[in-house]
Amino acid sequence: MRKKYAAGNWKMNTTFDEGKKLLSEVVNMVKDELTDANVKVVVGVPMPYLSTFGQLIDTDKVALAAQNCHPEASGAFTGETSVSMLKSVGVKYVIIGHSERREMFNEDDAFVAAKVDAILAEGLTPIFCCGETLAQREAGIHFDFVRSQFTNGLFHLSADELKKVVIAYEPIWAIGTGVTASSEQAQEMHKMLRDHLASKYGQDVADEISILYGGSVKPNNAKELFGMPDVDGGLVGGASLDSRGFTDIAKSF
Ligand code: 13P
Repeated sequence: MRKKYAAGNWKMNTTFDEGKKLLSEVVNMVKDELTDANVKVVVGVPMPYLSTFGQLIDTDKVALAAQNCHPEASGAFTGETSVSMLKSVGVKYVIIGHSERREMFNEDDAFVAAKVDAILAEGLTPIFCCGETLAQREAGIHFDFVRSQFTNGLFHLSADELKKVVIAYEPIWAIGTGVTASSEQAQEMHKMLRDHLASKYGQDVADEISILYGGSVKPNNAKELFGMPDVDGGLVGGASLDSRGFTDIAKSF
């Protein structure tokens, strides 16, 4: 059975104290309320809080994520953070290829692919984001575009490596807009992506990969989205900043 995920991406939000309170609440609620052992809650907190916040997590049900990394192991990369640094403070997952980084920081497919390699080399789990713009969807090239992000970002991996990757499909037009992809639109894309993985790695491998949906996931739409056969959870932005709502999302499988 594929692992299910409720992954929070706090983005550039919360002060240290606010974040500490939010994470403590999430950890306590998840410990008390989340009964499905196949669901993993992942919390992507701001970089400066990682080391301290890792110590607030005292349950296997919750894991710490970073929102970015640099592919190089060390060196003259001012302001950047290597995967080994993240690993050394207890990070288990790293969000990469997010559209905000691709668009605002000009990260291309090759750079994202190098991050995948660096994360896997340290034994951490990449959360590989992909997704089309509204213009691409309206032009009818959304499937081709997202397929190309996959091919360029992931298809250099062996099957064993690919199995360690978590995918997040995040249509850019649904991020932070309150416009969620319909469950049918999410399912259609997730199925196409799984088929694309199967075309290279075989159906057995493709069936093991968790594909999350991201883009205005809220407590009131999570159940319908997560009910689709190829939607294995969510990568949640705004709604992950509310402990009650985020925990409810994690309980929506
Ligand atoms: P929202 O849930 O705020 O739309 O953000 C989605 C996202 O970008 C998660 O990475």
